[in-house]
Formats: sequence, C-alpha cells, structure tokens
Amino acid sequence: MEFDDRLVTSELTESDGEQYSLRPRTLEEYIGQDKVKQNIAVFIEAALKRNEALDHVLLFGPPGLGKTTLANIIANELHVNMRVTSGPAIMRQGDLAAILSTLSEGEVLFIDEIHRLPKAVEEILYSAMEDFQLDIVIGKGPGAQNVRLPLPRFTLIGATTRLGSLAAPLRERFGVQCRLEFYQPEQLRIIVNKSAEKLAVGMTPEGALEIARRSRGTPRVANRLLKRVRDFAQVSGQDVIDRKLADEALSRLEVDSYGLDQNDRRILQTIVRKFGGGPVGVDTIAAAVSEEAGTIEDVVEPYLMQLGLLQRTPRGRVATRETYRYLGIPCRPDDDPNGKPKIEQPSLL
Ligand SMILES: Nc1ncnc2c1ncn2[C@@H]1O[C@H](COP(=O)(O)OP(=O)(O)OP(=O)(O)O)[C@@H](O)[C@H]1O
Ligand SMILES: [Mg+2]
Repeated sequence: MEFDDRLVTSELTESDGEQYSLRPRTLEEYIGQDKVKQNIAVFIEAALKRNEALDHVLLFGPPGLGKTTLANIIANELHVNMRVTSGPAIMRQGDLAAILSTLSEGEVLFIDEIHRLPKAVEEILYSAMEDFQLDIVIGKGPGAQNVRLPLPRFTLIGATTRLGSLAAPLRERFGVQCRLEFYQPEQLRIIVNKSAEKLAVGMTPEGALEIARRSRGTPRVANRLLKRVRDFAQVSGQDVIDRKLADEALSRLEVDSYGLDQNDRRILQTIVRKFGGGPVGVDTIAAAVSEEAGTIEDVVEPYLMQLGLLQRTPRGRVATRETYRYLGIPCRPDDDPNGKPKIEQPSLL
C-alpha cells in the first residue's frame, strides 16, 4: 500500500469529501481542545463586545486535528465572512495584495499552510497584520513607486502543521497562538457517535470507542474509519455497529489496536532492524522506505512519538523499549541504545 492512500493517514484524501458535512459549525459542537476553545470563546466575546476585529490567530498541530474546522467556526461565531487561501496558492505579492485590498471590515482571511508563503509575500503581510497597511511597489526600474494603501481591520487566521518552519517575525504578529493536541479516545468516541448519527448509521457506545481508540487521536481518521466500518456493516447486513464488528472490520483493514498500519510498522522495523534502533536521520529512513521525509515528519511521526514508540533526538530518530515490545523483537538491556523510554505513555490497549 502506498502512503498516499493509506487508511489511517491523517492527511486529507479524495475520499474524505463527505467529511465536510461532518464538520461542526459552532464552538459548542467542536469536541475536545478545551483550553483552546475556552480561550477563543473569551477572545471572540471580547471582540464582539468592543465591536472590533479579533486579533490574528495562529493554529498549529498535526494534520486532521481540526485547524480548518476551527477557523470556520471562529468566522461563524464572529458572524463574518471568511476568505480562504493557502501559502502555496499565493505566488506573488500582487496575489496577496489583491486579496487584502478586497477584504471588508472585520472579515477573516484564512491562510492554510502559512509556512509555505513565499518570502516576498510574507514581507508585505507584516505591515498588513500590524498596521493594516499595504506597502507595495508599483512599476519597475527607476520609475517604480512605493505605494501605501490603508486596509480594513481584518483577522488573519493562519494554519500550519509545521510551526518550526514559520519565520519568527510572522509568528510574533499573531496575538493568539493555539496548539491543537491529539484527542483522547473518549473525545473521539463522541465525535464518532455524532458522525454516525449524521450518516444515519446505528452504533453502540462500545463500537464507537473501538473506532475511536484506533484513530490515532485524529478526528479525520476517526471519520474515515467510521465510513469503512459502515461498509462492512452494510455488506454483512448488520444495522448497528458494535465492538465486535468494528474490531473485525478494522483488523481486516489492517489497522491494529494502536491505530497503526503496515507503513508505521515498516518505519519502526527499519529503525530497529536496519539501523540498530537508531539514532538515524529522517532522510535516511525516508530513503529506506521510499517515502518523502516531510510526510514522515508531519504525518507519521507525531503519533508514534505520542505513543512513545519513537523519539526525536538531535542526532536522529531513536527506537524505545516500547518499540521493541510493540514489534515483538527482544531487546537486550545492555544493548538498549537509550535505556528507558523518556515518555511513559499509558497503553491504549
Ligand atoms: N473538534 C472536532 N470535533 C468534531 N469533529 C472534528 C473536530 N475537529 C476535526 N473534526 C473533523 O475532522 C475533520 C478534519 O478536520 P480539519 O480539516 O479541520 O483538520 P485540519 O487540522 O485542518 O487538517 P490539515 O492540517 O490537513 O489541514 C473535519 O472534517 C471534521 O469533520
Ligand atoms: Mg486544514
């Protein structure tokens, strides 16, 4: 199976189209991320009371945790329109200038993958965010002119899976910065239950929890697994998804009880078998499993680290005792490259 079409990827895939209808529309419907939600609710209320635009918001965290969903909710709760674009879609300063100059007072501009904005574009964003001014150069050569245009007060919401790739001056201009965390199984269970209702699928609480536990802490994965399990239910003529059916379906789909699939195991096995447990650089791992280093870093590793099955160190990736246990490979104590895993993760089983 290729990484691109794996069932448990937290990245958006083509078959996820239907998820738009599963998106919560209000802060109240948005499950989990309680700290983030509480803070944002306060800032929204304050902005509404003062009749001002909300401060710029930066949302960061691994794919599929609800950044785009939250951006939509913020605009919705502010009762304003949201314009959507993304870092790679804005090639030149003029592209961004065209968007900014047509914003209305209080509107939200959502820039997804904001870490991928070209440098020159990023630079005009600085004064737009800070002073609500657009500084652009019109014309070329000696006749070129610096023009300064006033902008309406708008709210920029930036989303990124890679906070580290964001230039410091850009990051500093966001008054509100929120890190989205992986979800607890209980929170995902609620999400699965709600989605099942929306899709008109019968579901027991245990069935929902089984799907939740195998969803890598990620709502997008939970919704996707739900739909695949629904297919199994339909084919086997069962109206209600219970724990047994969910377990059978997910086992047949080769999603194990941790929510990991062949690709995760291949990466862990590579580190352990080919590189003696590490440390090994992500580029070397990527070459060994024929995958892009960026995908491994953004999509695969965050959850493996959350489970304590992988550590990132300055010298490279390192397997933990937990990794050996998970793979069923004996690990001699005096041979253990790292000693005890640093992260003691409660078992999800
Ligand atoms: N808190 C939540 N409650 C309920 N459903 C959620 C929540 N967060 C996300 N979802 C569901 O998960 C799906 C994926 O979320 P979303 O597209 O917002 O993720 P993202 O963080 O923007 O991902 P990416 O980094 O790939 O852009 C949504 O379509 C929505 O159905
Ligand atoms: Mg998104």
